[in-house]
Amino acid sequence: MHQYRPRVNGRRVEVRAAPDTPLLWVLRDNLGLTGTKFGCGVAQCGACVVHVRGASVPSCVVPISALGDAPVETIEGIRDPVARRVQDAWVALDVPQCGYCQSGMVMAAVALLREHERPSDRQIDDALAMHICRCGTYARIKQAVKQAAAAR
Ligand code: FES
Ligand code: FES
Repeated sequence: MHQYRPRVNGRRVEVRAAPDTPLLWVLRDNLGLTGTKFGCGVAQCGACVVHVRGASVPSCVVPISALGDAPVETIEGIRDPVARRVQDAWVALDVPQCGYCQSGMVMAAVALLREHERPSDRQIDDALAMHICRCGTYARIKQAVKQAAAAR
């Protein structure tokens, strides 16, 4: 076990973990941030996506020892106007079905809209390409991203 002091949602936290422990398990098990979900464990589904240095990253394949001082943002920590617009659009369009994939989807949408105020269809598709929704909410997700972009 090693001691790590990652910056998560604007706070420096202390965790004890083996160096190869995925960030996902540090978030869920050590820090109780269970909004980030486990799906595949091999960077193939997007359920575990968080922001590391502002970029969407599958936290299931990031060892805690590789994180260094990079700031991490999870679904519990997004509070800026872009995130609010995304969350409002998600609610207005009643996007989730079972909800399991939605945390990762929202994190991807927020990262996209922070970078591109009015993303093209292609940019939306690219940003969400790795994300799987077993309930098939893709059309509503895409519509919600567009609605969030239009609401700025
Ligand atoms: S659980 Fe990380 S991408 Fe599927
Ligand atoms: S809403 Fe059920 S997996 Fe996406």
